[in-house]
Amino acid sequence: MEKFEIHGGNVLNGTIKISGAKNAAVAIIPAVILSDGVCTIENIPDIDDVNGMAEILSKMGASVKKIDKSAIEIDARGIKDPVATYDQVRNMRASCYLMGALLGRFCRAEVALPGGCDFGVRPVDQHLKGFGVLGAEHQVDSGMIKLKADSLTGSRVYFDVTSVGATINMMLASVKAKGKTTIENAAKEPHVVDLANFLNTMGADIRGAGTDVIKINGVETLKGVTYSIIPDQIEAGTYMAAVAFTGGDVTLQNVIPKHLESITAKLREMGVVIEENDDSVRVFCDKKLKRCNVKTMPHPGFPTDMQPQIAVLLTKARGTSIVTEAVWDDRFKYIDEIRRMGADLKVEGKSVVIEGVEKLTGAPVRATDLRAGAAMIIAGLGAEGVTTVEEIHHIDRGYEDVIEKLTGVGADIKRIYNEVSSVPPEQKK
Ligand code: EPZ
Repeated sequence: MEKFEIHGGNVLNGTIKISGAKNAAVAIIPAVILSDGVCTIENIPDIDDVNGMAEILSKMGASVKKIDKSAIEIDARGIKDPVATYDQVRNMRASCYLMGALLGRFCRAEVALPGGCDFGVRPVDQHLKGFGVLGAEHQVDSGMIKLKADSLTGSRVYFDVTSVGATINMMLASVKAKGKTTIENAAKEPHVVDLANFLNTMGADIRGAGTDVIKINGVETLKGVTYSIIPDQIEAGTYMAAVAFTGGDVTLQNVIPKHLESITAKLREMGVVIEENDDSVRVFCDKKLKRCNVKTMPHPGFPTDMQPQIAVLLTKARGTSIVTEAVWDDRFKYIDEIRRMGADLKVEGKSVVIEGVEKLTGAPVRATDLRAGAAMIIAGLGAEGVTTVEEIHHIDRGYEDVIEKLTGVGADIKRIYNEVSSVPPEQKK
C-alpha cells in the first residue's frame, strides 16, 4: 500500500492555490443528469471522489470528457436506465445524490445504499422523507433503494435534522417537479448554495439557498451551461491549520474568505494571525497556540470536516481544550492514532478533552477517514522525527496534489510507493 513519509519540523512559507470544492463538485456532477444539454464544469478538483462520480455517470450512459485537469464536459442525455448498481457506487457517500437527480428526471431511481467515511451511522431517512412529500414511494431491496412516482408535485418538507445531503437531494428531486416546493430547516453550507446557483444558471427557479428556508418553483427544462465551482473551504481550512501547527507565513489563493469565517475566528482565538483579502487569506504564526474549546455545528458554525484538524492543533496548545462533535455520532476514530505520537487526550462522550503537551513525536499512523487522514499529515508536519501515514487512499479522495502543495511551501513529505502495489506515475510508462 502507498503511504506518506513526513519529516516533521519544517516551517511553512509561500503560496498554495486552493482547488475547487469537493462537496460542491460531487453534487453538481450528478445534477447534470437533469440537464437537457451539454454542461462544462470548471474548477473541479482532480480527486478520486470527483473522478469516481464522473465515472458513474459515464457507466450509466452519459458522455463524459475531461477537457483538462480542472474541467469536464458532460452530456447526460445518453442515460436511459435510472439504475446505479453497488459495483458502481460502493465506496462513495455522495452517490446518494443520484437518487435525487435520477428521480427528478425519470420519476424513478434505483441506487445502491451509499458507503463513504466510517464515522457512525449515515442514515438517509430525511432524504426519503423529502422524496415522499413530492409523491415518490420507496423500498429498500437487496441493498438498493428503489424510488418511483407517477409524477412529482411540489410540496413542503420540514427536516428533522439539518442535513446537507437531504437538502441537496430535495433540490435535485424538486427542481423539475410541478409547482412549488419549500424546504424548511435546510442546510446552509457553501456547497448547497453553489448547487442552487448551478441549477439556476441552467434555468431553475430556486430562492433562499444559504438560508434555512429554500423555495423552488418547478421548471420544464434545464439547459446545458458552463459553470465554475467554488473554492474548497475545507481544503483551505486544512492548510490554514497546517501553518498554525508548524509555524510560518503562507498565502492561500483562490479562496472565498466569507466561507472560512468560523475557521478564521477559531484560529485567531488560538493566536494565529490571519489577513483576509478579496480572494486570498494570509496565515502567519510564530508562537505557541493558545487553548480553546470547539463545538462543531452545521454552517455557519465550525465545520465538522475541520474537527480532526483542529484537535491536532490543540494537542500542543498550552492548557486544556475540549472539542465537541455535535454533527456526527462518532468522529473520533483518529484519536488512538495521534495518541501514539505523544498526544494526551481522552474521549468523553461526544467530546475529546485535550491536555496540551510540549511536543509530538513522529510514528507510523493510519488515515481512518478523509479528514482524519489530513489531520495525520498536520500532526506529522508539526512533530519531531518521522511520521508515516498509511491508508492514504482516504486522503486522495479529497485533497488534490497534496504532496506538491505542501512541498511547495517547504514541507518534507513524500509519497512512498510499495514496489508490489504501485509505482510512481513517471515510472508507469
Ligand atoms: C455531507 O455529508 C458531507 N459530505 C460531509 O463531508 C460532512 O461531514 C456533512 O455533510 C456535514 O457537513 C458531502 O458533502 C459529500 P448530513 P452528509 O446529511 O450530507 C444526520 C467530507 O469530509 N442525518 O449533513 O452525509 C447524520 O447522521 C464529508 O467531505 C440523519 O439523521 O451529512 C448526521 O448526524 C465527510 N438523517 C447529520 O444528520 C439523514 O437522512 C448531518 O449529516 C441524513 C443525515
